[in-house]
Amino acid sequence: MKHMSETILVTGGAGFIGSNFVLSWMREGNGAVVNLDLLTYAGNAANLSPLDGDQRYTFVRGDICDAELVGWLLSKHQPGAIVHFAAESHVDRSIVSPGEFVRTNVQGTFTLLEQARAYWAGQSDADRAAFRFLHVSTDEVYGTLGPSDPAFSETTAYAPNSPYAASKAGSDHLARAYFHTFGLPVVTTNCSNNYGPYQFPEKLIPLMILNALEGKPLPVYGDGQNVRDWLYVEDHCAAIRKVLEAGKPGETYNIGGMSERANIDVVTAICDLVDEMRPRSGAEPRRKLITFVGDRPGHDRRYAMDASKIARELGWKPEEGFESGLRKTVRWYLEHGDWVDSVRTGAYREWIAKNYAERAAL
Ligand code: NAD
Ligand code: TYD
Repeated sequence: MKHMSETILVTGGAGFIGSNFVLSWMREGNGAVVNLDLLTYAGNAANLSPLDGDQRYTFVRGDICDAELVGWLLSKHQPGAIVHFAAESHVDRSIVSPGEFVRTNVQGTFTLLEQARAYWAGQSDADRAAFRFLHVSTDEVYGTLGPSDPAFSETTAYAPNSPYAASKAGSDHLARAYFHTFGLPVVTTNCSNNYGPYQFPEKLIPLMILNALEGKPLPVYGDGQNVRDWLYVEDHCAAIRKVLEAGKPGETYNIGGMSERANIDVVTAICDLVDEMRPRSGAEPRRKLITFVGDRPGHDRRYAMDASKIARELGWKPEEGFESGLRKTVRWYLEHGDWVDSVRTGAYREWIAKNYAERAAL
């Protein structure tokens, strides 16, 4: 985009990564943000409460599938970029209700692209050249790796295995096609697993922190040897800002943390941190709470990202190490009991009961 001082339209800015992105964008003194978010179970407008009273921030509760609303927001606010986070994002839920993933991730992205194309076509030559549609995606579109396979690169063939990954792959293909066919200046980022503040506690790291704190079983799927590459969320946000500033239209950029860890090692590290920060006299170490449970169907064995392109071309690399980032994250959850209570609603408890009831302990 032309200047970071321009207005941007963010979708899904009340979710985990979106909230962190909007907060860091504003902290850095960049331009105004219009945040379009439906506030599904995963969205929480209160994440943005530090921005209360800030004239540069506008929250709109609405659906990315609502073409009329999206078109109206674009013509009213005249953004220089769209940063598209909104999605259904949890693999286990995509196994239970795949239709919602197709609707939000495929239909929703299509609607945004269509509205962006119409808006962009009406801009001046200079504004058309500077506009960016930044599509935020995942490493899961590439499928799964064996233990000694090379990491995914931008040219790895797509091979999504879960309904979540397939719906994100579909949205990536649409984004690509809008660049190639219509010239819409789309850039796509594919990132590895994020962790940090404001992550909804259905995902591995916050779920395990809270269960460990509360002395509940820690449900590790399968043999616990599945490997993920972990990136601290602030590093992802910094990468997105770099791509907005300097990414080339039509390109895709892989983003990763260079921190591959087996799930069981992540969970034991969390146990040790919670023991250290919330010691329980006389009680057994939290590692004893680890319970191996039935595996996720189609569970991808390993993800790893080759992020050398974004390092080489845009000068981005992760700043936070996994051990220090995990320590900060555990501390954040221990210090934000009110936030945790506010997101663990009845619907959340129903999901947890359903997901884990079906996975008898091994
Ligand atoms: P999240 O589930 O925490 O948040 C999603 C947000 O989108 C919520 O605020 C929700 O209310 C909103 N939303 C859902 N449907 C909507 C709709 N129809 N209209 C408007 N808003 C809607 O997700 P996240 O973990 O922050 O992920 C954000 C993006 O980053 C997603 O596109 C995801 O695929 C991608 N991503 C996530 C990770 C990760 O580890 N979390 C890694 C790589 C890429
Ligand atoms: P998750 O946080 O759901 O992210 P993703 O599936 O997108 O990688 O899960 C991370 C890893 O942790 C994945 O291999 C599944 C595993 N996992 C468990 O072992 N137990 C759990 O309760 C959850 C939610 C995940």
